[in-house]
Amino acid sequence: MATVLVVDDEKIVRESLSSWLIDAGYDVAMAANGTEALSIIKQDPPKIVISDNRMPDIDGIELMKRARDIVPGLPFIIITAYASVPSAVDAMRLGAYDYVEKPFCPERIELLVKKLLAHQTLVEENVALKKELEKRFFFHDLIGKGAKMQRLFDFAQTVARSSATVLIRGESGTGKELLARAIHNSSPRADKPFVTLSCAALPESLLESELFGHEKGAFTGAIAQRKGNFELADTGTLFLDEIGDISANVQVHLLRVLEEREFTRVGGGERIKVDVRIISATNKDLWACVQDGKFREDLYYRLNVVGMTIPPLRERREDIMPLANHFVQKFARENNKQCFEVSQEVVEALMRYAWPGNVRELENSIEHAVVICDGPLVRLKDLPNHIVRASAEPAPVVSVGSPVAAPGAESAAVPVGGTAGPAAAPAEAGAVTPLAELEKQQILAALKQTGGNKKEAARLLGIHRMTLHKKLKQLQEPNP
Ligand SMILES: Nc1ncnc2c1ncn2[C@@H]1O[C@H](COP(=O)(O)OP(=O)(O)OP(=O)(O)O)[C@@H](O)[C@H]1O
Ligand SMILES: [Mg+2]
Repeated sequence: MATVLVVDDEKIVRESLSSWLIDAGYDVAMAANGTEALSIIKQDPPKIVISDNRMPDIDGIELMKRARDIVPGLPFIIITAYASVPSAVDAMRLGAYDYVEKPFCPERIELLVKKLLAHQTLVEENVALKKELEKRFFFHDLIGKGAKMQRLFDFAQTVARSSATVLIRGESGTGKELLARAIHNSSPRADKPFVTLSCAALPESLLESELFGHEKGAFTGAIAQRKGNFELADTGTLFLDEIGDISANVQVHLLRVLEEREFTRVGGGERIKVDVRIISATNKDLWACVQDGKFREDLYYRLNVVGMTIPPLRERREDIMPLANHFVQKFARENNKQCFEVSQEVVEALMRYAWPGNVRELENSIEHAVVICDGPLVRLKDLPNHIVRASAEPAPVVSVGSPVAAPGAESAAVPVGGTAGPAAAPAEAGAVTPLAELEKQQILAALKQTGGNKKEAARLLGIHRMTLHKKLKQLQEPNP
């Protein structure tokens, strides 16, 4: 592949410039006119084109335009006749890297080529770095920009290489199943089965048969022999979802399989050996279940060889917008909608909301918004009502360290920091803060949050702009 393509209809110019560049160590291709140049560019794009501007078929500037339809951004150095200022200006305006006047000095061109190649290398490195960075924001289908998820991805990647048993903890909707799949897909078992079993969904008797299979006639209704999930997942991964919900009896069976790596089908005698990697997940505090005597301690240790916790979304707010944008694209595509962006108000509302249902709730909310959105921009009115309402509540005054909103609690509409307790924490715990003082703090916090924009602050506070005006005036008056 040639590094430089020299285009000139004058043989002597073309050849002398080429040999100069070859001597300087570059690979050079030559073309005697624009048409020839285009066919070379199509077949074997060079890194740089040096072209005369005045040529019989197409001029250098036109060649640059057409060449860039083939290779976007292909750098050009245009050679113009002495004192042909307008065409030189044109060339630069249309994005030529530089122009050289005839008669030119080859050293100058060599210098330009050198600079241009160095610049291109930088650009290429930059693009590669950016790509690398973007790749890191994904772990298979999981998106996570913040440091917490980045650390989790790194850890998951390492764990995936082994066959170690993994326990994933996290509130509902944080992405436990997605993470389990991602681990499987990065593991050497990736092309083997990934079998999912939700332990909560089944009564005990059925769960046993789902796990281990059964022999014909093992119980009423067992009309044929059936393989269980352990057998189906052989050589692959078995994902046991909601593991905290299994009965004491199933716990015993499971423990035995984990210890011996073999089992018998329900109603059968044959010992079946399997090679299965177990990943389990729970949104319960499994250790607390152990202490309450509801979950076997020995099984807990067997399952929790490697433990991972996915933090709730409210504790990794930096992931909210990357996820939201991803879901906007996804649902716009699925619903044939043309909306690709969200308004600033939507950003604010999403960032303030507590997300008790985590990523699943965010995903559902964005789907709702995209479905009813009627323009290119997703607006506040498109979001589910309770999120809009939460965003209109008074601004958080101090950021309260501890998270709000337990999942499923009455707190779906609580903005972060806006706890049920006195949001404007007085200096000493237990001190009674006069109402007026609380109000003042809320107003100041809202102004701070909106960068002094009174209209926005009034909206955040849920009061009319004039009311805010009045209150600010009162605050400025000296106390009686
Ligand atoms: N980091 C993420 N990036 C992209 N999508 C995500 C992410 N986390 C979760 N999701 C999406 O959110 C939804 C819920 O995820 P998932 O089912 O894995 O959660 P879960 O923790 O297993 O929830 P539950 O405890 O309720 O079963 C899915 O549609 C999933 O695709
Ligand atoms: Mg799940």
